[in-house]
Amino acid sequence: MSVILNIVIRELSDPLISYYKTLNQLFRGFKLKIAVIGLGVGYALSCCLAEVGHDTIGIDIDPNIVKQPREDPSIKKLLLKKNKVIERNLKLSTDYSKIKGCKIAIICVSTGDEHRLHIGSVANAIRSCINNLEPGSTILVYSTLPIGSSKLIINIFKEENAENIDYVYMPLMIAQGKTADGFINPPFVVFGSYDEYAAEETKTFYLDFIKKSFFWNKKIPPNFTSSPEEAEIIKLSTNAFLFTKMSFANMTSMFCEELNLDSYKILDVIGSDPRIGKKMLKPGYAVGGNCFPRDLDSLIETYEKNKIKSPLFNSIREINNLRLKDPIIKMKKNGIYEGKILLLGASYKSGVPMLSNSPSIKLRDLLKHEDYEVVIYDPKIEEFNKIPEIDEFDAIIITIDEPEFAEILNKLKTKLLLDYRMKFNE
Ligand SMILES: NC(=O)c1ccc[n+]([C@@H]2O[C@H](COP(=O)([O-])OP(=O)(O)OC[C@H]3O[C@@H](n4cnc5c(N)ncnc54)[C@H](O)[C@@H]3O)[C@@H](O)[C@H]2O)c1
Repeated sequence: MSVILNIVIRELSDPLISYYKTLNQLFRGFKLKIAVIGLGVGYALSCCLAEVGHDTIGIDIDPNIVKQPREDPSIKKLLLKKNKVIERNLKLSTDYSKIKGCKIAIICVSTGDEHRLHIGSVANAIRSCINNLEPGSTILVYSTLPIGSSKLIINIFKEENAENIDYVYMPLMIAQGKTADGFINPPFVVFGSYDEYAAEETKTFYLDFIKKSFFWNKKIPPNFTSSPEEAEIIKLSTNAFLFTKMSFANMTSMFCEELNLDSYKILDVIGSDPRIGKKMLKPGYAVGGNCFPRDLDSLIETYEKNKIKSPLFNSIREINNLRLKDPIIKMKKNGIYEGKILLLGASYKSGVPMLSNSPSIKLRDLLKHEDYEVVIYDPKIEEFNKIPEIDEFDAIIITIDEPEFAEILNKLKTKLLLDYRMKFNE
């Protein structure tokens, strides 16, 4: 009821906005002109929007990215099947003036690095969008925001006299390596805005977009509207919960390994309880990458700023550190204080070539510091994709799971195999 009342009040009070909103409604389900700003993960979103028929313009300030955007396996799959329609509907540029006439601009620019989450390039991207968009359009922020950013963002709208452009925060949960698929089949969607109407409108647009996509798995994700502050907390807390779940699995695993019990099986049984679930409850090596550790740190910082203790989150950091050093402890327990060590896996995650905040690289540095000789093999990363020439190692440590590892392991001898993916132990 309050949504309807809100719509009526807005429609009566601002005829210009009303005009554009009515147009929006008319065009809902039809071809829209949409901008995607930032072509890292934004390139996957651009391809998906173009595939369903939207007239899509992708903007990045880096001309090299515009020339050759990053493609992960999900984008490659989409391009293979739908190349023609994407080519027809998607243009990439460094020139913001190309977004003129867009109904929606979706911001996917970087917000910090692996160490720190901050509002980053979002502020600049919003200013550039405001300079080129018309009243009644919507700026949808996808980039992960630290809690409190939406207040700063809305001040930018005020400073730029752009209160006739809507702001919505849409923090979808997607995974590296599956970005195109992730934009279409997210576990849930939430649209946070100070304007309930804008949140509802964007939600309708996005669900409609999902339903037309090549990747759609025919399930509508649970969908919500909220305030931007709620959406900010939802994003960081979801990541913190998933990090907790992975850390729980790793802690249980460390305990089971000590007792010589099968943690994979134990966690599988625990995860069969529908209240818990099996996803992200598998043993593994330490958690890395750009998102989980950094987002957790940002959440801890916000708790501290608000003088709220967060002992659970601090324990997650501690467990992750223990897991990182676990191979060295196990090697020493087995009498391996020196020698040649092979690390299978350099990326922070299986299936993707991502070195950013990679626990394997941190482990290599720790091992070198302790004077071990270290060789790394990772078929997905050029720097490390040479098959090791030595055929006997004091220890082999498997941090991620790549199909090529099985064949290599067959040819190698070692005193100790530490398989954190529990795939190659048999
Ligand atoms: N990569 C993922 O799987 C993932 C998952 C969830 C959330 N996110 C979030 O999405 C956002 C983007 O992540 P990413 O991995 O694509 O980052 P990225 O650094 O790989 O890409 C960001 C792109 O934005 C461009 N850019 C920066 N400032 C710009 C500006 N003012 N105008 C236009 N382009 C600009 C950069 O040149 C770069 O190409 C981050 O907030 C990240 O936390 C990413």
